[in-house]
Amino acid sequence: WPVFAGDVDAILTLKRERNAVILAHNYQTPEIFHCVADLVGDSLALARMATQTDADIIVLAGVHFMAETAKLLNPSKTVLIPDLGAGCSLAESITPADVRLIRARHPGVPVVTYVNTSAAVKAESDICCTSGNARAVVESLGVDRVIMIPDEYLARNVAAETRVEIIAWKGHCEVHERFSADEVRQLREDHPGITVLAHPECPPDVVAAADFAGSTAVMSDYVRLRQPARVVLLTECSMSDNVAVQHPGVEFIRPCNLCPHMKRITLKNIRQALEENRHEVTIDPVVAAPARRAVERMLAL
Ligand code: 13P
Ligand code: SF4
Repeated sequence: WPVFAGDVDAILTLKRERNAVILAHNYQTPEIFHCVADLVGDSLALARMATQTDADIIVLAGVHFMAETAKLLNPSKTVLIPDLGAGCSLAESITPADVRLIRARHPGVPVVTYVNTSAAVKAESDICCTSGNARAVVESLGVDRVIMIPDEYLARNVAAETRVEIIAWKGHCEVHERFSADEVRQLREDHPGITVLAHPECPPDVVAAADFAGSTAVMSDYVRLRQPARVVLLTECSMSDNVAVQHPGVEFIRPCNLCPHMKRITLKNIRQALEENRHEVTIDPVVAAPARRAVERMLAL
């Protein structure tokens, strides 16, 4: 605690002085998640919270696409990301030109875009989705086929649950693609009675081998409501750290796959962000208008 105390105190003071709010994703480290964040959640919750705050400044403790989404929904507010290098392998897997090419190959088929993408890619899309609402978004369109980009595994996991035909792209999350069905089998052998929860960015055979799949917020709710005796969360490491603190009666088994992008955010650079107003997220207005439409169409569901 003494290592963090100076930065935590400074951040709490700066937030008050500057009328700032810190939105933190579930993958942030416990000292950020529990000590300085005002609002925590999955990508969907962070997008919703961004529309509800009356703060002047939003510091996004998460990755760049999350900060862009917050800015899209709050064009008049200052949105800061403490490290501009906090990217995402999914967001990097696809460009706006790729989306135009896929559309040309499948004329008339709507494009559902995972929020883990740049604003420029969202701008080429009909509607966005998160891991928490992907199936509902796909089915809301009332069509037989959709294009779902860029996460191949999320698309295939949704396809397994719906009658809508899904055309996928080839992007993967570098954290979740590392889990394997063999690892799930080994976990069950080593820890009898374990409940296995998987994120839908995991490969489909991992999701099939799990007891339940859902977004980070849905996993957290599952633990809170069901209180399993033993559980493993097949997702980023900090998630288990954060949820375990809230449920001392639940045994967490913790295979650890770190997201190097999420881990670029620290107490030190959150403090610097508030002290020096950096790094401010800006979005080209030509891109912002259609990207905002795709995000707002999702939020309206
Ligand atoms: P959710 O929190 O929306 O489930 O997303 C997980 C993720 O990998 C975000 O980068
Ligand atoms: Fe992107 Fe995966 Fe990291 Fe989330 S966990 S930010 S999807 S690389």
